[in-house]
Amino acid sequence: MHSRRALLYMPGDDWKKITKSITLGVDSICMDMEDGVAITHKSEARAAIAKALRELDFGKSEKLARINPVGSGFEKEDIEAVLPFHPDGIVIPKLEEPKQIQWASEIIEAAELRYGWPVHSIRILVIVETAKGILNLKEIASHPRLDAIIFGGEDYAASVGATRTKDAVELLYAREAVIAACAAFGLQAIDIVAIDFKDLEALRKESEFGAQLGFTGKQIIHPAQVEPVQAAFTPSDEAIAHAKRIVETFEASQKEGKGAYALDGRMIDMPLLKNAQKVLERAKAAGKAERGL
Ligand code: COA
Ligand code: MG
Repeated sequence: MHSRRALLYMPGDDWKKITKSITLGVDSICMDMEDGVAITHKSEARAAIAKALRELDFGKSEKLARINPVGSGFEKEDIEAVLPFHPDGIVIPKLEEPKQIQWASEIIEAAELRYGWPVHSIRILVIVETAKGILNLKEIASHPRLDAIIFGGEDYAASVGATRTKDAVELLYAREAVIAACAAFGLQAIDIVAIDFKDLEALRKESEFGAQLGFTGKQIIHPAQVEPVQAAFTPSDEAIAHAKRIVETFEASQKEGKGAYALDGRMIDMPLLKNAQKVLERAKAAGKAERGL
C-alpha cells in the first residue's frame, strides 16, 4: 500500500497549484472536483485533472482524484473524465453506505478491463464525514478495493452540530471510531485538515496527537504543511531504536520461557511487542527502516 503520511488537496481547476504540487515531495496529491471547486467550474476541473494525469510526471507522489459524492449528480461525469488516464486512486467524499463504494468499484473495474490494466490497480479511498457514515463504519471498512478511510472533521462537525475548537475534543469519538474500523480491516486512517494553515505550531501538535491516536496520515491543504505532517507520521529514530530493542529482547525472553519481562524499569509483554512491530512497519513504509537505525 502506498505510504500516505501527507495527502495534499488542491482545487482541480487550479493548474498552477497542480503543477506546484508535483515539486513538493508529498506522499499523495489529491486533485479535487468536490468542495474546493465552484459549482460553475466542475467541467474545468475535470478537464485539468485529465490533462495533469496525461501530461505531468508526479514522481513518487501518488495521483488521486476526488469526485463529488455518489448521489450528487456530478459523480458519473467526474469519474469518467479521469479514469481513462489511470489515476492511482479515486477519493469518494461524504461516504455513508457500502453501496456507494460498490458503484465506483464497478465503474473502475470496467475501465481496468477495457484498458487492459490489472484489476484493483486503481484504489479507492473514502472520506467519512457525516453522522451516518460513522454509524456505518463497519460495513464501509470491509470493501476489498478500499485502502484508507479519511475522516473529514469540518463536515462531521456540521453534520452533528458541533462547534469546532482548537484541540478538537468535539471530534474525538468519531476520529477514534475511524481508527478502530481501519485497524480492524487493515486500512490506513487519515486524519482531519488543519485549516489554519499559517499556524505551523498548532499543526505540529495536532499531527502528533493524531499519530498518537493511531492515524497513519493527515490531510493537508497548503505546501507549508507537508514537512511537519510527514515528520509527525514518521517514527523518530528513538522510537525505532526502542522498538528494535523490544523485538530483540522479546525473542530472548520467549526462549527463556517468560511471557513478561522488564526493560528499563517497564514491563514488556505481547501487546508492547505488537506495538513495537507497528512502529517498525510504519518506519519501513516511510522508507526509514533500511538504514539500520
Ligand atoms: N497545492 C499546491 N500548491 C499550493 C496549494 C495547494 N493546496 N496551496 C497553495 N499553493 C501554492 C500557491 O499557489 C503559491 O504558489 P507560488 O509561491 O508558486 O505562487 C504558494 O503555494 C503559496 O501559497 P499562499 O499564497 O500561501 O496560499 P494561497 O493564498 O494562494 O492559497 C488556499 C490558500 C487555502 C486557498 C490554498 O492553499 C488552497 O487552495 N488549498 C487547497 C484547498 C482545497 O483544495 N480545499 C478542498 C479540500 S479540503
Ligand atoms: Mg469534506
